[in-house]
Amino acid sequence: MKILVVGKGGREHAIITAIKESEPQAEVYSFPGSDAIFELARPVEADGIDTLISFMQAEGVELCVAGEESYLVKDQGLANACEQAGIPCWGPPKEAAQLEASKEFAKEFMIRHEIPTGGYAVVDDIEAARQAIAGKYPTVLKFDGLAAGKGVAVCADEAAAEAFLQEVLVERRFGAGRLLVEEFLDGPEISIFAAVSGDAYHILAPARDYKRLGDSDAGPNTGGMGAVSSLEMFEGDLKDVIETTIVKPTVEGLQKDGLPYRGFLYFGLMLTEDGPKILEYNCRFGDPEAQAVLPMVSGDFTQFIYSGAKGDLKPELIEFRKGWSICLVSASAGYPEGSRNGDVISGLESLDEARVYHAGTKRNEDGEFATAGGRVYAIVARGDTRADAVAKVYAESDKVSFDGMQRRSDIGTCNFG
Ligand code: AMP
Ligand code: GLY
Repeated sequence: MKILVVGKGGREHAIITAIKESEPQAEVYSFPGSDAIFELARPVEADGIDTLISFMQAEGVELCVAGEESYLVKDQGLANACEQAGIPCWGPPKEAAQLEASKEFAKEFMIRHEIPTGGYAVVDDIEAARQAIAGKYPTVLKFDGLAAGKGVAVCADEAAAEAFLQEVLVERRFGAGRLLVEEFLDGPEISIFAAVSGDAYHILAPARDYKRLGDSDAGPNTGGMGAVSSLEMFEGDLKDVIETTIVKPTVEGLQKDGLPYRGFLYFGLMLTEDGPKILEYNCRFGDPEAQAVLPMVSGDFTQFIYSGAKGDLKPELIEFRKGWSICLVSASAGYPEGSRNGDVISGLESLDEARVYHAGTKRNEDGEFATAGGRVYAIVARGDTRADAVAKVYAESDKVSFDGMQRRSDIGTCNFG
């Protein structure tokens, strides 16, 4: 089978690895891809959705997988264009992808379908924002638009809120756009992924990610410094509660609203004392959660997403391994404010009990992998217990290094009782 995967990061490296492991004869193409991805997949010359579609038609590609979200909402929408061309796509059409692209759309969807989430107000200017905050702290401020993961601020006090409001509504750091003032929710966070195809869904192994740069969740927000996955995180009846209050009503809501959905749907949840509540939807797998979850999948992952993309989800095609999976990210010097390129990475070939997924690497003139971005790579190890997986992932990660490397020392231990 010929498959095109859209994206270039660690998540896409993990998705392509999972495809090749379950179907070694699959011919995988990648756009835009990366040097590490091109060891598994062939590059595609394209400059947008139209040329991607022409390529897929010319090559006879049978499945398009949207790893990242940007093409889902660009121009006519990647999945919409695939549908027109008769190519099954694992990723939702533009209309449904608004669940991720517009926070206001997502909130209105959740209210309409009585799906638990924090209370909110949408404002256009700083005066209205102050009124909506009404002196209640902590408060959560979210820019409703693309902000490269920097559009959310949990503000402990007025000074922090005022600084963010200035940046977003006065200096317009992220450009034009409205702001959501949201109720602060307290509790542990969990990332839930469902494979959705029309009215059918299948809930995958849950994960927890680590967004802050420093140990104990200190320091600035990042794209993600690590993640943990295990079925054991579904303690007691948690899976049933999440399914009945969150996942099922979401899938039914999409059906009721005439928004056909095919692809992974990501639910960022806060497990509050009043039950799970949604922080956000994403219309794709999480990054770096995919790097932790996918090594836990056994069975026929490729046929699983292919049948889902054709509208016939077959949950029986995959299973989840027991135990724990831990993904530890190494980032380059200067991240997240900036990043440093060109630092040579040594030791990659000495990994024997862990995998590596590349995110920001590039081969240099000598053919060595060097840093080329903020988050450089993730090392992923599995273990029977969480402690085993933590010990293994750190022992393996210690074998690989580059100048200026930054990584957390508490992935898999922080935020677990
Ligand atoms: P988001 O991009 O909406 O997932 O927000 C990024 C992070 O901000 C989340 O992972 C949470 O840690 C935090 N956050 C978002 N919304 C809330 C909320 N309503 N209450 C508390 N923390 C939040
Ligand atoms: N791990 C968070 C995200 O993928 O958005």
